[in-house]
Amino acid sequence: MGSTFRCIRCNKIIQPGTTFRCGCGGLYEVRHEFEEVTRELFDERLGTTKKPYDSGVWRFKELVHPGIDDGDVVSRPEGNTNLYRREIVCDYVGVQSLSMKHEGENPTGSFKDRGMTVAISEAKHCGASTVACASTGNTSASMAAYAAQSGLNGVVFVPEGEITYGKLSQALAYGAKVIQIRGNFDDAMRLVQEASSEIGYYLLNSLNPWRIEGQKTIIFELLQQRRWSPPDWIITPGGNLGNTSAFGKAISELHGLGLIEEKPRLAVVQAEGANPFYRLWSSKGKELEAVENPHTLASAIKIGAPVSWEKALRVVSNTGGVVEEVSDDEIMDAKAIVDRSGVGCEPASAASVAGARKLKEEGVIHQDDSVVCILTGNLLKDPDATIQYHTEKLQGIKARFSNKPVVLEPDSATMLQSFKKVIASTI
Ligand code: F0G
Repeated sequence: MGSTFRCIRCNKIIQPGTTFRCGCGGLYEVRHEFEEVTRELFDERLGTTKKPYDSGVWRFKELVHPGIDDGDVVSRPEGNTNLYRREIVCDYVGVQSLSMKHEGENPTGSFKDRGMTVAISEAKHCGASTVACASTGNTSASMAAYAAQSGLNGVVFVPEGEITYGKLSQALAYGAKVIQIRGNFDDAMRLVQEASSEIGYYLLNSLNPWRIEGQKTIIFELLQQRRWSPPDWIITPGGNLGNTSAFGKAISELHGLGLIEEKPRLAVVQAEGANPFYRLWSSKGKELEAVENPHTLASAIKIGAPVSWEKALRVVSNTGGVVEEVSDDEIMDAKAIVDRSGVGCEPASAASVAGARKLKEEGVIHQDDSVVCILTGNLLKDPDATIQYHTEKLQGIKARFSNKPVVLEPDSATMLQSFKKVIASTI
């Protein structure tokens, strides 16, 4: 039942603690001594109300954090998110067997809750009093909620004016101390690492390997929903690349344990203006070169120096995966289609659907492949982006699927007439 930390670069093994980077510069990953597990063990827990197994993370406890006492787990619960197939999205991508796993259905509206429940439980276990993270918004919202629940102090470092109000309001409301940096996410990430090691805050970014353990359950759960039959492709947006690393680890562990026979291929999609991983992949390079001033409307993935690039590079190769980039125009159109299907997501999430379409056009994905796109965050996380798209106010965005609101003048005599005219021409 023992778990250790292993450096992914030099293979050094240490006892789990609060140091997440090895002296050689490599990141640690968690290594478990797995007990024998079966699909049935996890299937029997479906629908249970027994804590913590009612959570879509802790249902897989043996593969996530076998050593922690059930009583030490801090859970909302999280996970148990739906898989949706929508005709309009399938037609848009050109693949009929395409579904979307909606991680925006987690308690704070993004996939981050899955990693957070594990890492905050571990923070409590280690006796931490203050937890900290840098964030483009969702991690800070999630951390603030779990810190509040567990009675820990939370400090979040966010780029000033660069995170959406939906996310900022969550961090403030849940009571975290919000530090707004006059810089970008990469500056905030540097500062939080320095502050954590100087002041002793427990770091909750995804370089904390316990976060990765929780995020693996997106894959476990989606395979369980598909009765353990892997799709050909799993497509996810890439920012700091924690999720990509988690997906790859999940796939190789399930395969190693014999719970799946085939490995699905991973496709990671970045925004063109924040694409260091795409550049590394397509140049077949060995070292990541940071993008100095990353830009994209998908603020969640506006990251120039992703912390987990080295883990991500290995796992993409191990699954026979690919890395793609898409423009903001493609992201916002794909979002409009996902939204109009009635499912809805935030801009960064739609990068997965935009990426699926592009990979299909390029012939990498075939029309009869089965595909699961991960929707990482809820539609309501970024209402500004949605409204500006539909009012056609986004610079450089063609807004092909805009649904422009109609304005009527407050003149009671003619309002009904104008309304009738407008409605006759639009519906
Ligand atoms: N989608 C959303 C909605 C996100 O919030 C993030 C990351 C990603 C995709 C990319 O995931 O970083 O694991 O590659 N958000 C982080 C944050 C950076 O601070 O909330 P990743």
